[in-house]
Amino acid sequence: MSVQTLERQKKNSRTSSSNIGLELVVNNQYSSSANYFSINNRRYLGNKYKLNEFIKKIISKECGKFESFADLFAGTGAVASMFQDKHLIVNDILYSNYICYQTWFGTEHYSQSKIQNYIQKYNTLIIKKDNYWSKNYGNTYFSKENCRKIGFIREDIEQNYSANNLNNREKCILITSLLYAMDKIANTCGHYDAYRKNGELNKDLVLGMPLIQKTNSRNEIYNTDINQLAKFVSADVVYLDPPYNSRQYCDAYHLLENIARWEKPDVYGVARKMDRTALKSDYCTISATKAFEDLIKNIQAKYIILSYNNMANKGNDRSNAKLSDDDIFRILKSKGKVKVFSQDYKAFSTGKSNIEENAERLFVCQCF
Ligand SMILES: C[S@@+](CC[C@H](N)C(=O)[O-])C[C@H]1O[C@@H](n2cnc3c(N)ncnc32)[C@H](O)[C@@H]1O
Repeated sequence: MSVQTLERQKKNSRTSSSNIGLELVVNNQYSSSANYFSINNRRYLGNKYKLNEFIKKIISKECGKFESFADLFAGTGAVASMFQDKHLIVNDILYSNYICYQTWFGTEHYSQSKIQNYIQKYNTLIIKKDNYWSKNYGNTYFSKENCRKIGFIREDIEQNYSANNLNNREKCILITSLLYAMDKIANTCGHYDAYRKNGELNKDLVLGMPLIQKTNSRNEIYNTDINQLAKFVSADVVYLDPPYNSRQYCDAYHLLENIARWEKPDVYGVARKMDRTALKSDYCTISATKAFEDLIKNIQAKYIILSYNNMANKGNDRSNAKLSDDDIFRILKSKGKVKVFSQDYKAFSTGKSNIEENAERLFVCQCF
């Protein structure tokens, strides 16, 4: 990513705002027919939602008062969402996550009633004609009927954005609503490496209204490789939650990425994946240690907080952690004083291996 592109993202992420507390006011006009969803109502590998209290407690105790918080492998944004009163810097390599951050942490003004009207219209649609989405994904992760609806809605959002009927934040809010609605009914076990043969396809696609909180007008939202970004941003507290193993997030979430980007590429194989070459992460490969070392060297922060579990050699090959404890300590100690906190957490394995005593650890580095 070029410096100009980063500058553009920085400028876009700071568009003017009119913030009004919890921005979604559930008034009588809308409450009867709308359903609502919040940032954590989605399935995501490595999501820290259940560890939020533990993470918040340690950060508050160790870092004291601070003004800016950067969540740079932000995934769903669950951790950043605990610090909504701070100046947030949020980033992920996946564009589908970036779109969601515009909804949850964006600063551009949006019309709540306009969003509500679009959602009401989308929820009553019956689409008979095939489109890109139904031709490629019909009766796989979703029924043919739901795919026609998904493809129609996504195209409609794009056209209304091009016609200036929606601003960028409104476009992102509608796409976020579609992504969360899809995730709720997808015929999968929570990711898109495969769909269930003979699985249930007849659930209704129902879009909801996101419960958006007041956002800080200084928030910055990025969609780039963390090692590039680290050279340009700084924050009091930088939180890092890299992938642990060889499982690439772009493989697990290719389908949501395809909807978010809406470039309509060819898709291949049983799992209907698009080309994901540009989205592969070094942190899932043997280059992870080198990438981590380079990242820590460049980060400008008072505190670096790292989430990493203790899977070093406990699972199958695909589940094994890419960073060893020795390397984590060596690299963090070159940057500051290091403490480690841990909380036992249910094991995650991409295979069938049964892993006991899987602890999620939080490394706190107070930078020199
Ligand atoms: C363990 S998940 C983060 C989960 C997140 N803390 C949450 O609670 O949802 C790791 C995230 O890092 C992103 N990622 C992987 N490599 C990246 C890179 N080089 N730059 C930026 N983001 C990356 C993935 O797309 C994924 O969303």
